[in-house]
Formats: sequence, structure tokens, C-alpha cells
Amino acid sequence: MDQRLIKIEFSINGRRVAVDIATEMTALQVLREVLELTGTKEGCGIGECGACTIVVDGDAVNACLLPGVQLDGREVLTVEGLEKDGKLHVLQERFISDHAVQCGFCTPGILMSTHALLNKNSSPKRAEIAKAIAGNLCRCTGYQQIITSIENAVDNLARVEGVE
Ligand code: FES
Ligand code: FES
Repeated sequence: MDQRLIKIEFSINGRRVAVDIATEMTALQVLREVLELTGTKEGCGIGECGACTIVVDGDAVNACLLPGVQLDGREVLTVEGLEKDGKLHVLQERFISDHAVQCGFCTPGILMSTHALLNKNSSPKRAEIAKAIAGNLCRCTGYQQIITSIENAVDNLARVEGVE
């Protein structure tokens, strides 16, 4: 069967890419199957679990619902882009030290929802954090360690220089 291809260009984790994609691909498929960035997870595939959350032009987006062609011209951040020069982002460090990760399947999506929150609000309250990650389902942790860990990361960031 013929597949119609279209070229898109966008920024992924600070790097410009140009790729030919099938017109029916989702952004999640572009990331995982074309760019081999498998940190972004596929859970439900229908916009309900948040495992596929990425940041597009500063906002948290479910990559499973976003048509791949809509990545064209956008600035995209995935969990792979949080680390800088071999050093984990403070959110990642705190998730590890605060035991906010169990199986880890939800973790990339929660990190990206949180990153999008901190883009707009560098000192969120606990309720604001809970609201920001309300679309990210976690079957393991019960959420409390995750929210506490984000609060701790916010404290750490306030003492340093803010979210990058
Ligand atoms: Fe996208 Fe579940 S895989 S919301
Ligand atoms: Fe397992 Fe969240 S740590 S789903």
C-alpha cells in the first residue's frame, strides 16, 4: 500500500530536524519510530493516561493525540532533552532521591507536565502541582511522593537560578 509522505521540520530538544513522515502518523509515532526517542511512552493511545506527554512551544501536550504534521515549525521538548551536559535536570534528580519513581512508566510524562507548569509558574503550590499532573496516571506511587518531590525540586530551583 502506498504511503503518502510529507516533510516536516522542527526543533527537538534544541536540535533542528527535517524528517519525512507518513501523513497519518501521530507526534508520538514520529518521536518513537522516526527519531527513535523512546523516552516518551505510549500507554492508552487515546489521550487519557498522560504517559505520552511532551512539551510543545512551552505547553504540555498528549503526543498520542497530536498529528505528526503539527510538529512542523514547533519547539518540542521530550524527556531526553531535560538532561544537560550529562547532568540530570533537578526534577529528575529529586524524583530519584525522593523515591517518586517505581515502575517509571508514568515518569517521563509527569516530568514533562511539570516542566510545562514551571515554564509558567516557577513557585507552584501543592494544589497547583496536583492540578498540573492530574492528567498523568500513575498506578504505583499514590502520587504523594511525586508531588512532594516536585515541591522539593521547586525549592532547589528557587535556590539556584530557575528552570531552563
Ligand atoms: Fe497518550 Fe495515554 S498514550 S494519553
Ligand atoms: Fe509506575 Fe507511575 S511509577 S505508573
